[in-house]
Amino acid sequence: MQHIVIFASGTGSNAENIIRYFKNNNTKSVVAVFSNHSDAKVVEKAKNLSVETVVFTKEELSNGVVLSKLQAFQPDLIVLAGFLWMFPTRIIQHFPSKIINIHPALLPKYGGKGMYGNHVHQAVLEQKETETGITIHYVNEQYDEGKIIFQKAVSITDCTTFEDIAQKVHQLEQEYFPKVIDQLL
Ligand code: GAR
Repeated sequence: MQHIVIFASGTGSNAENIIRYFKNNNTKSVVAVFSNHSDAKVVEKAKNLSVETVVFTKEELSNGVVLSKLQAFQPDLIVLAGFLWMFPTRIIQHFPSKIINIHPALLPKYGGKGMYGNHVHQAVLEQKETETGITIHYVNEQYDEGKIIFQKAVSITDCTTFEDIAQKVHQLEQEYFPKVIDQLL
């Protein structure tokens, strides 16, 4: 069995979708969801789907506690799905080419610190872009700069609010993120 571990900070719609996608898979499984917020929706969702949850502090992420808890799950792939803290070097070095992130735009545009969730869609709207999309990439020590694995674009010429854009990006995430994870494994 190949083990997937998800890191998420918020709503967890991607986490939930990934857990459901692999639910009846005999060779790949989501074994844990790690979150930095005990009251995040993602924690509740994971529990409802019978997936183990681990809640941790910023200190535990950097001092090795999270690394040792991660090692216990023997992850084949670590998936950041709306996880908003920088990943520490010690974890990145421990799992080379095994940590991926999804970003709700076409990197290298609209990436970097502070560019997450609706901030990204707002910026895309303000720049009057005609398309946006999703990027799935390996995680390195710089925000949103690791090697790109997959991108998918969508036209947003019919979008007038950032919510419209968010909805289109969300649809792409739901459709492609689990499939890319499946293929990577
Ligand atoms: C997703 O849209 C993801 O692409 C984005 O956060 C959202 C989490 O939604 N990630 C980033 O912005 C990373 N910089 P979810 O909690 O409902 O899956």
